[in-house]
Amino acid sequence: MEIDSLLKQTSFCNNDLVSLLTCTNQAEEQLFAYSKYIRDTTIGNSVHMRGLVEISNICIKDCLYCGIRRSNNHAQRYSLTDEEILNAASFAHRYQYGSIVLQGGERKDKAFTERIEQLLLKIKKLSNNTLGITLSLGEQNKETLQRWKDAGAHRYLLRIETSNEKLYQKIHPKDELHNFHTRLECIHLLQECGYQTGTGVMIGLPDQTIEDLANDLLFLKNIDVDMVGMGPYLEHHETPLWEKRNQLLTPKQRLQLGLHMVSCLRILMPDINIAATTALQAIDPYGREKALEIGANVIMPNITPLTNRANYQLYENKPGMDEGAEESTQRLIESVRKSGCQVQLASWGDSQHFFKRSN
Ligand code: 5AD
Repeated sequence: MEIDSLLKQTSFCNNDLVSLLTCTNQAEEQLFAYSKYIRDTTIGNSVHMRGLVEISNICIKDCLYCGIRRSNNHAQRYSLTDEEILNAASFAHRYQYGSIVLQGGERKDKAFTERIEQLLLKIKKLSNNTLGITLSLGEQNKETLQRWKDAGAHRYLLRIETSNEKLYQKIHPKDELHNFHTRLECIHLLQECGYQTGTGVMIGLPDQTIEDLANDLLFLKNIDVDMVGMGPYLEHHETPLWEKRNQLLTPKQRLQLGLHMVSCLRILMPDINIAATTALQAIDPYGREKALEIGANVIMPNITPLTNRANYQLYENKPGMDEGAEESTQRLIESVRKSGCQVQLASWGDSQHFFKRSN
C-alpha cells in the first residue's frame, strides 16, 4: 500500500506498522513529517526537561543485556548519598527543570523503600512542592508504590523491554525474579495507584523481528500507557548477550528503527509523552534531537554527579560522561530549539493522555 493511504488510516494492524517501520527515502520523509504534524497539532511543540539522577547501580536483577546486572563483578557499585541526591534535586529546581527522575537498580528491601520515601518528602520540601518527581526503580509491590506516591512521586517508568513473552524469556534469567507476567502486573499496579505510567521497549535486540516491534507498538496502545521511553539495544561486553553481537543490526540501522518506532507511536498515540532517550544519543550525537524533530516531546538530561556517572553503564559508549550539568543544560536548550521545538521550563509537563484517561 502507498504511504499516503496508509497514513490516512485511523487504525493500524501489524502489517501496516511493519510497512511503516521499514519504509525508506520519500516514504520515510512523509512518515516523519506526519508524526511531527500530529504532535504539533495535538500537544504542541513544547519539550519537557526531566533532570535524570542515577541514584545507585546496586541491583538485585540479572538481566542478560544490562551492564549493571547483579553478576557483573566488574561494575563498581555505588549509591549516592542523601546529600548528593538532594543537591541534584536543588540544581534541577534552580535551573527550572520542572521535574526530576530518580532512576536506579532494583531493590525491594525495607531500608531502601523507606529511604526513598524520606527522600521524596525532602525533595518536595526543598522545592516548596514545585518539583515533579518520576521514579524508575524497578518492580515493587502495591504497598511500596502507594507509599511512594503518597510521599510525592507522581510518574513511574517501568519498561516491559519487549512485549513478546518468548523473547523476554530469552533476554532474562529463567527464574521467578525475572517473570514477564509479574512485570506486566506491576505496570497495571502503577496505573491502579494513580501514577502517570510509562513503559517502553528496547529496539534491535538479538532475535527480535520487525513484527515483534510492530506488536510492541500495538501493545503500548492496548495497555493505554501515558508515557513511553524506548531506545536501541546497545551491547555491553560484560553481559551474556554480548555473545550475540554478530547477529545484530548495525548501530545506524538500530537508530533508524528507533526513530521509526517513535514516529509510528506518535501517530498511534498522539497525546502521550514520548522521550528522546539517551540510547539514541549513544549512537548519534544528535540522536535525541532527531527524535524530537519527528514527534518525541521529553528529554532527560543527566544531572547525576560526574564522579558517579561512569559507573551507571547499562550499555557501553554511554554519552555525557564528562559534561557537567550546568554546561549541558544550556547547550541542550539550544539544540532543542534547533530541532524546531521549544523547551518548556518550570512545568511538570504531564502527559495529556493521563488526564483524558482518568476523567
Ligand atoms: N541497551 C539499551 N538499553 C538498555 N537498558 C538496559 N540495558 C540496556 C542495553 N544494554 C534499558 C532497559 C531498562 C532501562 C533502564 O535501560 O530498557 O529498562
